[in-house]
Amino acid sequence: MLEGRSLVEPGNFSLEEMEGLFNLAQRIEEDKGFLRQSCRGKVLATLFFEPSTRTRLSFEAAMLRLGGSCLGFAEPGSSSAAKGESLADTVRTVACYADLIVMRNPKEGAALLASRCADIPVINAGDGGHHHPTQTLTDLLTIKRLRGKGEEKLRDTLQGLTVGFCGDLKFGRTVHSLAKALARYGNLTMIFISPGELRLPEYITRLLEQQGIAYREIGSFEEAMPVLDVLYMTRVQRERFFNEEDYIRLKDTYVLSPDKLEKAKDDLIILHPLPRVNEIAVEVDADPRAAYFRQAKYGMYIRMALISSVLGVNHA
Ligand code: NCD
Repeated sequence: MLEGRSLVEPGNFSLEEMEGLFNLAQRIEEDKGFLRQSCRGKVLATLFFEPSTRTRLSFEAAMLRLGGSCLGFAEPGSSSAAKGESLADTVRTVACYADLIVMRNPKEGAALLASRCADIPVINAGDGGHHHPTQTLTDLLTIKRLRGKGEEKLRDTLQGLTVGFCGDLKFGRTVHSLAKALARYGNLTMIFISPGELRLPEYITRLLEQQGIAYREIGSFEEAMPVLDVLYMTRVQRERFFNEEDYIRLKDTYVLSPDKLEKAKDDLIILHPLPRVNEIAVEVDADPRAAYFRQAKYGMYIRMALISSVLGVNHA
């Protein structure tokens, strides 16, 4: 039962609970009338202290499609945070007006703090370089829908797959959340492709080791391309760099272009949480293996499933 629960990191939900959300999202996708109006009278608050397009708008679209309403702010300058109000006070106040809070904040740990201050569920829409659990649900649903056979569970779909992560693995919160989540499914291999300075944080590699997950860290994606089943591209996270020169030096380390895909498998799927800057050439968009815009659409369905579950809608 997810009713009343907060989601700060993917580990907050069991694999069975996540599977339930994937199935629900698929039902929503297949039957557009299903759950319509199920959240009528409910209010979703989106508190975005950092820029966003997909996450905020897909949450709002999800709530509107469920018949509920949305309020909130898209940048902190227009809230009382600009006057010096603490996050705890903002969250306590918004909890008086809404049934569910979705928050993005540049500080790691902000979502956990908010979930402790609010007496309504809080969903983390990204806390600094830490976690982004609803992007992970989106990514997993995309893999399940595009690689899974029939009614197969995600655990079975993932067996034996090789998943490559490429780009800014140090600051990319989507990578941290997805790698941790995938590690819970066991028998798969991960390849982490990044410049030395943007390697995965040690707390995650340590976790992979503890869980016995096979992984490699490499510097070039050409070498990994032929073995990958999923390639997760990411943007270099400019806003988390301490100086602009480092960003400029590293930002174009990897640019996925059609020629780089010549040695890739035919059934590879290319994911990206988006926004893309320069790391995937637009020519790749026409390749049937490019799945990032389909991924963005799955993001809305999984958020519909999540909102309705957390708000206690009966799905029978
Ligand atoms: C990601 C994020 O905010 O972490 N975007 C998203 O939510 N789809 C990825 C990014 O900004 O690079």
